[in-house]
Amino acid sequence: MKLILLGPPGAGKGTQAKILEDRYGIAQISTGDMLRAEVKAGTEIGLQARAVMESGALVSDDIIIRMLANRISQADCVKGFILDGFPRTVPQARALDAMLESKGVQLDAVIELKVDDALLVERIAGRFTCAKCGAGYHDVFHPTGVAGVCDKCGSTEFIRRADDKRETVAARLAAYHEQTAPILPHYAALGRLQTVDGMADMGEVTRQLVALLEPVS
Ligand code: AP5
Repeated sequence: MKLILLGPPGAGKGTQAKILEDRYGIAQISTGDMLRAEVKAGTEIGLQARAVMESGALVSDDIIIRMLANRISQADCVKGFILDGFPRTVPQARALDAMLESKGVQLDAVIELKVDDALLVERIAGRFTCAKCGAGYHDVFHPTGVAGVCDKCGSTEFIRRADDKRETVAARLAAYHEQTAPILPHYAALGRLQTVDGMADMGEVTRQLVALLEPVS
């Protein structure tokens, strides 16, 4: 199954992509996670991306497209993949079309998670992840079972993303509306775009996604 999850920052793309990855045994590809790994490793890409990401703006199409082309050529993508955070601009969407066409691969679904901006700020500002296993939590919507202890691995160390400050979230939302939302008509024109209500609780969002994916799974 080859799937794109679209939606603004905090819409729940990462949350749902991890669930679908486990359910269907396909690779979650998050360009944000890939960039954060480059920043952490201090690579050339990481050095270029760091300040851009911390400002809430988008990293250049050139870097992202090269990174993504390498990633979808890897063995774990043969069975399928979920693109989470890519494409993010019209040139990225066009580059993806060309990449898939050259491999003779077709997308099975393009799904938008729709959420109001006001809720997104609350979701992002309360988000944290386990420093050891990467499990995601939220101060209000998805706290750990025991305060300060990861439900999955028992670690007591957690991290909050540098770009999750309230003031940066506003810049990320503006980038979404200006540069990413214009790709929705691109997929609608191809007859591929479907929409899920991302305002619902996490379980309900998963149910809606699985219902849409049932015919292609
Ligand atoms: P990236 O890491 O891709 O971030 P994003 O798209 O801004 O998305 P998020 O990870 O913030 O949100 P999400 O939708 O995954 O939400 P989540 O599931 O965590 O990108 C970061 C930066 O990298 C960009 O700003 C840019 O600079 C750069 N970049 C990345 N890709 C790029 C590209 N292609 N081109 C150029 N630049 C690129 O959910 C949020 C919270 O809400 C969680 O705490 C969760 O527990 C909670 N939650 C989720 N669903 C629900 C629900 N249904 N009900 C209640 N709470 C919920």
